Amino acid sequence: MGRKLLLEHIDVPGIETFEVYRQKGGYRSVEKALKSMSPDEVVEEVKKSGLRGRGGAGFPTGMKWSFLAKPEGVPRYLLCNADESEPGTFKDRYLMQYLPHLLIEGMIVSSFALGTNLSYIYIRGEYLFVLEILEKAIAEAYANGFLGKNILGTGYDLDLRVSPGGGAYICGEETALIESLEGKRGNPRIKPPFPAVKGLWGCPTVVNNVESLATVVPIINMGADEYVKIGTEQSRGTKLISACGNLERPGVYEIDLGLSVEEFIYGDDWCRGIKNGKQLKALVPGGSSVPILPTHLITKTANGDTRFMSYESLSDGGFASGSMLGSGGFIAFDEDQCIVRNTWNFTRFYAHESCGQCSPCREGTAWMEKVLWRIENGEGTMEDIALLEDINKKIEGNTICPLGDAAAWPVASAIRHFREEFEWHIKHPQEAMSRNYGLLKGATV
Ligand SMILES: Cc1cc2nc3c(=O)[nH]c(=O)nc-3n(C[C@H](O)[C@H](O)[C@H](O)COP(=O)(O)O)c2cc1C
Repeated sequence: MGRKLLLEHIDVPGIETFEVYRQKGGYRSVEKALKSMSPDEVVEEVKKSGLRGRGGAGFPTGMKWSFLAKPEGVPRYLLCNADESEPGTFKDRYLMQYLPHLLIEGMIVSSFALGTNLSYIYIRGEYLFVLEILEKAIAEAYANGFLGKNILGTGYDLDLRVSPGGGAYICGEETALIESLEGKRGNPRIKPPFPAVKGLWGCPTVVNNVESLATVVPIINMGADEYVKIGTEQSRGTKLISACGNLERPGVYEIDLGLSVEEFIYGDDWCRGIKNGKQLKALVPGGSSVPILPTHLITKTANGDTRFMSYESLSDGGFASGSMLGSGGFIAFDEDQCIVRNTWNFTRFYAHESCGQCSPCREGTAWMEKVLWRIENGEGTMEDIALLEDINKKIEGNTICPLGDAAAWPVASAIRHFREEFEWHIKHPQEAMSRNYGLLKGATV
């Protein structure tokens, strides 16, 4: 079993309460940071740790923090991105539901480092039951002097609020999140200006993922020098992975970055292989928006090297033969799964969730969904494959936010690696329909 920096106490009864969390050493990092470190020293420590944002893009957290503008007399904000709507990703929900104080602790230390006096957790609208857990934990933190005025007598003041999201995937994009928090429709903003300069209410703002902020706790407790000993040179520390699909033991796991993909899928401590003794056909390693990998590129790279669970190894080979670690939404497909149907299903999601602001994304995702639907249902033509590739190229890189790219990559990679399966659907319409979900024919999409 791997080491646990975040999930160490997850099985302790009552760990969601302040009392038990504190007994287990909770809030030590707040005492350490506020009483013996300056805000700049905390930023430096996080920089030194090599922590990369766990929300998907993997941008170095300490570097992001050091970009925060600090004009005189203007408030700054820290926003925790708990919108978590990427299909396949559910690790932030797990962390908040069972360890709410870990996130609050990480937010206090991070807010102190950034000099904010009011921070927010923007939580996915459908996670209302988790919002209640967080609110209860926040009230406990206030009652015990870890939030509010003059925290631990250090003179530092911090208020922390939770705000429910608008129930849209797009609100997880950081500038759409800011718009939504301001009470507007969650449309992404054109950048620059970046939030670090002009974010919430026009003030300097940092947006970080739940897991990124929670990870600040072990970094401060153990020190960056120890933290960097875990993982690989470009992927330091541990990472939460939400594993789902046709796995024998799906769930949320904390891995040391650099664990081999093979060990994670088949190892006894982890997913224990493919369900019902089936063969592994494909893998989406980082949430629905990252490229899908076919069997021969899952445990090995195109060069025959071992594939590891790290930012660099999962992307080895670029989009030709690699994928991405993304948000850690690990989806395994067994030999019985239909790649065309899955690609249609993902695309349906993106077409539904496009905010409609940019025409390549608004129109392109809807067209791709329609074309994939007809291929899946035995009404496609060979030209449709080229049409999909063409629409794809017109979306990628041509939108204000990366939702367009997120919609384009799964389609491009599915065609690249599973072209024969698309062609089979077109050549064998009757079999395609009866083998695959002919029942859905006629459903409203
Ligand atoms: C459409 C879309 C949805 C996103 N959803 C989330 C999300 O739910 N949670 C998240 O942390 N980041 C999400 N992101 C990434 C955020 O824009 C941002 O990069 C992230 O919150 C930064 O945090 P980090 O640096 O700690 O990873 C999304 C991005 C896009 C384009």
